[in-house]
Amino acid sequence: MSKPEFDQYAQQYDRLMQEAIPDGLNEDGYFAEYKVALMAQRLSPARPRRILDFGCGAGRGLPFLAQYFPDAELWGYDVSPESLKIAAQRTPDARLFSDWDALGQTRFDAIIAANVFHHIPPDQRRQALEQCRGALADGGQMFLFEHNPYNPATRWVFERCPFDADAEMFSLSEALRLAGEAGFGHTQQGYTLFFPRPLAFLRGLEPMLKRLPLGAQYYVQMEK
Ligand SMILES: C[S@@+](CC[C@H](N)C(=O)[O-])C[C@H]1O[C@@H](n2cnc3c(N)ncnc32)[C@H](O)[C@@H]1O
Repeated sequence: MSKPEFDQYAQQYDRLMQEAIPDGLNEDGYFAEYKVALMAQRLSPARPRRILDFGCGAGRGLPFLAQYFPDAELWGYDVSPESLKIAAQRTPDARLFSDWDALGQTRFDAIIAANVFHHIPPDQRRQALEQCRGALADGGQMFLFEHNPYNPATRWVFERCPFDADAEMFSLSEALRLAGEAGFGHTQQGYTLFFPRPLAFLRGLEPMLKRLPLGAQYYVQMEK
């Protein structure tokens, strides 16, 4: 069997991502943190007890999950064992695994999948959403974050990023369609990342702009 694609990028993941983004727009930590902050804000006042970072990779989101959900048990799943080794260094307390079957009857109150689905072949995305839905407790919430294929800056970065070479973007309309097919009932969505770093002072306005299909990324919140 061939090695998972991201095994080869695990050691250099952070550097490759930074190199793909022009200096003036690069905000490494912010890109990882804003997703978790948005998730925490949308879940509030609920306090999920067990959270899964689906496709956690090298674990860039895990320290923020630990920060925003200090009482939660954190789990991270990825098909790339080499990436999980880096994630374990970042967040030693997280329970990391690459064998989905080992999950057994464990269920999560919340799942986040950050920039994962464009790496899953289109004909396997519905199945991956079903997999996540199956791992949620009743009433559990899943947050999917993806690149907006219609944003030219996003597309420019996507085309320069070495580990996106085999990836295929996943539009919001397609994500909503597959969420319905995978059995998710109530879904909410919005575009994000409208303002680059020089205009960061305007970011407080982003929730009001969420219906504008101009943001660099989008989220879909799905309830089981
Ligand atoms: C761009 S990285 C994102 C990593 C992390 N979520 C982040 O925000 O930094 C995409 C990750 O998705 C993982 N991946 C690809 N296919 C997957 C699948 N079917 N199930 C779980 N993870 C997958 C890859 O191994 C890789 O670590």
